[in-house]
Amino acid sequence: MANTGEKVLIIGAGGQIGLELTENLSKIWGASNVVPTDLKPTESFKNNPFEQMDALDKDALFGIVKKHKITQVYHLAALLSATGEQKPMSAWKLNMESLFHVLDLAKEKYIKQVYWPSSIAVFGPTTPRENTPQYTVMEPSTVYGISKQAGERWCEWYFQKHGVDARSLRYPGLIGWKSAPGGGTTDYAVHIFHEALKTASYECFLSENTTLPMMHMEDAIRATIEIMQAPAEKVKIRGSYNLSGISFSPKEIANEIKKHIPEFKISYKPDFRQAIADSWPKSIDDSRAREDWGWKVKYDLPKLVENMLVNLKEHNLVK
Ligand code: NAD
Ligand code: SER
Repeated sequence: MANTGEKVLIIGAGGQIGLELTENLSKIWGASNVVPTDLKPTESFKNNPFEQMDALDKDALFGIVKKHKITQVYHLAALLSATGEQKPMSAWKLNMESLFHVLDLAKEKYIKQVYWPSSIAVFGPTTPRENTPQYTVMEPSTVYGISKQAGERWCEWYFQKHGVDARSLRYPGLIGWKSAPGGGTTDYAVHIFHEALKTASYECFLSENTTLPMMHMEDAIRATIEIMQAPAEKVKIRGSYNLSGISFSPKEIANEIKKHIPEFKISYKPDFRQAIADSWPKSIDDSRAREDWGWKVKYDLPKLVENMLVNLKEHNLVK
């Protein structure tokens, strides 16, 4: 039985995270209380009151928030790291301006709570790369990373100056079987499963030993809901929390896939995304999330690989 009480708006709901978050929040609050929005509709939202909306259109956002009496906004629309380097000014505009629209709605008390994701991209080449601490050198070298770092500071500022209840996680690369990734540097770790099942081979755009922090989508969605449901006093960091899942390289994930598909072969052809990956941490220290609101990861690499292969096959989702 669904809970009642919150009316939830999801901006960028048609993307990799939004599709799964809409499904999970609908189970909690009831589909009629979860309003997915995006530039275009998708078939996945047949039970929800979908609204077509550009996140940059402040008036449209305001109208939808009033119409549905929204209490919480999950703001996911953004251009990710790889697309952001190709369209730097569009990325800056979307990633920053749309965040201000949402934070202003909370400041003006139209909504009670905001969720906005940050990323490991806030770190840069001068950051310690192993077990990267919550507080450390942060000199991101991508437009995406700069926008996420600035967004974190704005969330904290709106909290301190205006009491806005904004909550945020620095997601690692996310891997799920239900939805496709959209323009990130960690996307290879989703594509590899589709190609493994389709052709038993994959040409990776990162080099074999490029270790990055990653996480199963189920863990990421659970973390998102847990931080939003945590009592306000437990959410002590109002910029964004480090969040850690598992770290692996393309070679390590390929070796794990070979345990299920022995004929699987991987080759490497690094492109412009290699430099982005080389500027990011290899692993993340998320002790503050564990201490403050009880975060605990579930998926390790063997479990993640098995779950991806079984579900993509079972649900006939290989693309
Ligand atoms: P995605 O690219 O898959 O989805 C983004 C969605 O936003 C798309 O459906 C797109 O149509 C929509 N969108 C783009 N421009 C819009 C606009 N002007 N108005 C309304 N909607 C618009 O991205 P994702 O992977 O789901 O990421 C969601 C959020 O999580 C982003 O803020 C991203 O930075 C963050 N994040 C994602 C990852 C990851 O691995 N997926 C990791 C770290 C952080
Ligand atoms: N997965 C994201 C990207 O690669 C990290 O924020 O852009």
